[in-house]
Amino acid sequence: MPNHVAIIMDGNGRWAARRGKPRTYGHQAGTEVARKIVQAVAERNIGTLTIYAFSSENWSRPKHEVKRLMSLFRRGLERELDQLQEHGIRLNFIGRREGFSKLLQRGMARAEQITAAGQRLVLNVAANYGGQLDIVDATRRIAERVQAGELQPAEIDQLMVSEHLQLAGQSPPDLFIRTGGEHRLSNFLLWNLAYTELHFSDVLWPDFTVQDLDHALLDYAQRHRRFGGLGHDTEISSSQNA
Ligand code: IPE
Ligand code: IPE
Ligand code: MG
Repeated sequence: MPNHVAIIMDGNGRWAARRGKPRTYGHQAGTEVARKIVQAVAERNIGTLTIYAFSSENWSRPKHEVKRLMSLFRRGLERELDQLQEHGIRLNFIGRREGFSKLLQRGMARAEQITAAGQRLVLNVAANYGGQLDIVDATRRIAERVQAGELQPAEIDQLMVSEHLQLAGQSPPDLFIRTGGEHRLSNFLLWNLAYTELHFSDVLWPDFTVQDLDHALLDYAQRHRRFGGLGHDTEISSSQNA
């Protein structure tokens, strides 16, 4: 089992279009699926789930679609709180929250507070998130520390950069899932996905089931991770050669 799963929940708009409905109908259906998958992940003893809810580029969608997404987000926050708390799920938002309305920002902070004691699953929700912005923000904070004389440029290493990113202190995703058939990262966790196993599903997000999740987990279980080394089997033979 992976410790950390990251999901791009893609395909809502196409799912709705196929049914002759407006794209926002797909977003609504997608919210229901998100709730179901979050519970399933929690039940599978996976410690962390990071879901891409709204990218820093999604503001370029038509105004009414953005508006609908914001209202679904706000309502979801209110509606899911009890259930999240009850199931020991701790919410953590990543992304530039200053992009959202004050009302929504307050709702996000409140949801984080109320669920802060959750021990079962950390649920990172990427909202107004962009992987490049994440790295830019980290770079700025590090530069400020250098400017303040706290830090020498030569002290900057991968660990330090990681610790200034939004997922600071969390292990990187082991498994990445993208639904909806596109084979790209769309500016999701660029830094953190360096050695993540990638799983692409053609299923549109509103059709994604717990069985599809299990299929991705099975796919992951069969991967052989090497992290640039030679993996476990070959370590023995290389030490024999030494
Ligand atoms: C993902 O579904 C949800 C968000 C981006 C908020 P899309 O809205 O991208 O659906 P498609 O990819 O157009 O079908
Ligand atoms: C990525 O999907 C963002 C979310 C699912 C929130 P997009 O639909 O925005 O990505 P592109 O535009 O197809 O790359
Ligand atoms: Mg899409």
